[in-house]
Amino acid sequence: STIYLADYRPPNFSVSHVELDFDIHPTQTRVVSTMTMKRHPQGEAIIVLNGFELTLIAIELNGRELLAGEYHRDEESLSIPCDEFDVTVRVITEINPLDNKALEGLYRSASMFCTQCEAEGFRRISYFPDRPDVLATYRVRIEADKAECPVLLSNGNLELSGELDNQRHFSVWYDPFPKPSYLFALVAGDLSAQSDVFVTASGREVALHLYVEAKDLDKCDFALEALKRSMIWDEEKYGREYDLDLFNIVAVDDFNMGAMENKSLNIFNSSCVLAKPETTTDQAFQRIEGIVAHEYFHNWSGNRVTCRDWFQLSLKEGFTVYRDAQFSADMGSAAVKRIEDVALLRARQFAEDAGPLAHPVRPASYIEISNFYTLTVYEKGAEVVRMINTLIGDDAFRKGSDLYFDRNDGTAATIEDFIAAMAEASGRDFSAFMSWYSQAGTPEVHVTERWDETSGFYELAFEQRLPLAGGRENWKPLVIPIRLSLLGEAGALAIQQAGAESADNTEWVYELDQYEATVKFGPFNERPVPSLLRDFSAPVKLVDTLTDEQLRFLIARDTDAYVRWDSSQKLLLAEIERAKSDSYSLCPKLSEALAAVLADDAADPALRAYSLSLPSEALLQQGESVDPVALFTAKDRVKAAIATELQEQFRTIVAQRVSWDQYQPSAEQVGQRLLQNLALDYVVKLGECSAAEAQFASANNMTDQLAALRSLFRYADRHPMAEFISQWAEDGLVLNTAFALQASARDGATLADIQRITEHQAFDFDNPNKVRAVFGSFGSDNTPLFHAKDGSGYEYLGDMVLKIDESNPQTASRLAAPLTRWRNLAPAYSAAMKAVLERLAGCPTLSKDLYEVVSKSLL
Ligand code: ARG
Ligand code: ZN
Repeated sequence: STIYLADYRPPNFSVSHVELDFDIHPTQTRVVSTMTMKRHPQGEAIIVLNGFELTLIAIELNGRELLAGEYHRDEESLSIPCDEFDVTVRVITEINPLDNKALEGLYRSASMFCTQCEAEGFRRISYFPDRPDVLATYRVRIEADKAECPVLLSNGNLELSGELDNQRHFSVWYDPFPKPSYLFALVAGDLSAQSDVFVTASGREVALHLYVEAKDLDKCDFALEALKRSMIWDEEKYGREYDLDLFNIVAVDDFNMGAMENKSLNIFNSSCVLAKPETTTDQAFQRIEGIVAHEYFHNWSGNRVTCRDWFQLSLKEGFTVYRDAQFSADMGSAAVKRIEDVALLRARQFAEDAGPLAHPVRPASYIEISNFYTLTVYEKGAEVVRMINTLIGDDAFRKGSDLYFDRNDGTAATIEDFIAAMAEASGRDFSAFMSWYSQAGTPEVHVTERWDETSGFYELAFEQRLPLAGGRENWKPLVIPIRLSLLGEAGALAIQQAGAESADNTEWVYELDQYEATVKFGPFNERPVPSLLRDFSAPVKLVDTLTDEQLRFLIARDTDAYVRWDSSQKLLLAEIERAKSDSYSLCPKLSEALAAVLADDAADPALRAYSLSLPSEALLQQGESVDPVALFTAKDRVKAAIATELQEQFRTIVAQRVSWDQYQPSAEQVGQRLLQNLALDYVVKLGECSAAEAQFASANNMTDQLAALRSLFRYADRHPMAEFISQWAEDGLVLNTAFALQASARDGATLADIQRITEHQAFDFDNPNKVRAVFGSFGSDNTPLFHAKDGSGYEYLGDMVLKIDESNPQTASRLAAPLTRWRNLAPAYSAAMKAVLERLAGCPTLSKDLYEVVSKSLL
């Protein structure tokens, strides 16, 4: 059953207040919900409540218990005919948290009880209008065994707590901010807290607590510091202050996603919040800072202003990802953060956009909303917000944001509300821009240069091509901001548009809003080299006709870090194509250019490292009739060739390795470690292992230890994986990284080796982090085994996905993503992958989640 945006109707009845009472018991938790409801003036005379896998004990309307014939109940809902306007509905249900392996609703993780309600988990707790446009205040009473659950938490402020008979106790929480059910949260367990205080701009003292299992108390400092940095930043950058006296974060081991922004009670996957240098890599530190900020920023972009319906998901997610990206840029190196985000978008979101599950930033329909927490809604959604900022400038963007929060505070809004605020603040008409929200696929922008030697005029001809597919005849050209500059031998040229007043700006945002357009510049007395789509100003594929020589010029001379990096990636991609031939040898001019980047001590080490990093498998595997194994082999050849050509430089970097007694995940240290570990990887590729072995043994931080292990595991005959696993036997998060590495490509490994990882005593099919570590890496990081010619890799992933789908549909449907790309593969791969999808499609017991992914992939 498909849900359509066009079918949106307001609810018949809304809830203004709810009293929730939880009597916690592992297998039989009783929930009493008392809802104060009001009928919408135009609403039908029927109360519709959602509910799933609930044991209904009793239901009352205005204090009177309803008999079986007085309401209607099916698998997913309960409805009560009612022609009154002000009613109280009381529902008593029972649930079984211990058996809940879907990790939606109330479930048990290790020794604690916790909830995940976004998007539609609340309906697994009680019958309720479980939709984001129903906003209520909540009072929550939690009762539990005192020894088992000394800590009892919910949203808002603690009103009351006390002791009860039978070793039980209770707490009562009240959240004064009306919220939809997806923001409800409850945690009960034996937890320890690290605490801090933040004083807001207006002087409110906010108590901050990070709740963890006692063993993890030494991993709390970084997230709490990151939280305080986020709170200050949102005040300064967006004028957003925190609005309660308490802010709690809880770390949970079993969690389907990264984290959840429940009002004043954020719940995090422990891998996205716990950190210390010995166990956490630089990249994980940065990810944690970004996610802590993301969830905190949701307090305004998501909670104070929420979404009318789930089609508007990018209203909160796109905007919040944009906000957290700006925050991370301010905390470290903006150029590095931008390149990392673009690399992710191009590798994974572009692939999604080109696959069978492509959808617009605002989808028009879905079967299971959990399948739409995607790179398109999040990352492309953030790019769309970034373009708005680019088009109207920082001042108008801030005014628009203020207006949006002001005008929609306490309501469930739409993307139109956001755009209306931006339009009003800037005076710009956004009607043509709106197509970014409704048109799926990655647009291409083709650019050709024309240079007239005699007149000195220079033209750029742009053409935008929208992805071709059925049913798209109503599509319109997009508004594409193209940030550009023109470079001469001496640097950036003043951008003189022919016929326009002369300007001395050297950078310009050109707005391409037609299918085709030509811009004329000049006159110049030398032929410029164009620097296009600077800072990746739009989420498009730029197809240009730049020569290798022009690209090398950009690598050496451009001031835009993104264009420098992108130019090197273009040359490396072309090089990998050439390396499909057995007689391949590295292009000497490319080798020279890379050597120069590596030697450029004035440049940021992180940018140098990224310029020498080969494009990811996900990026390589885009296009038509792809042979993943041939590309994998070609990439390996290029890697070996670069290692050989630049060996002296790599050895020098490794030999002169800098290490710090005081580890910091600062931009400076992170960049230096990236470059050093890149050099180490190339040196191990050459067969020289001693430096990596020494680094593995002596590293004082996980970044360096894991980097050494990774290089040795991939390229050396002997590797210290077993030592690593026994060294970290007590640390589940580190073991996950070991499992992920074991599941990725290594010469000579077989499916039996993958299977063996799942037999390790720390592996657990019910834990999404473990399952993702093994099967996620297998599907995306193990080209030779996953894409084995006989189809055995596809069969294996298919089997595992089916197995996981029995207990955890959300995680299963995400793991199935690598199986959906069959159309892009060369015929032999394609047929084998399609056969597995067809087998899955034939299973009668597929969850909604997996059914949607499988059936749409075969369409
Ligand atoms: N709103 C959360 C975030 O982006 C994501 C939660 C999604 N959960 C889910 N089960 N789909 O921070
Ligand atoms: Zn979010």
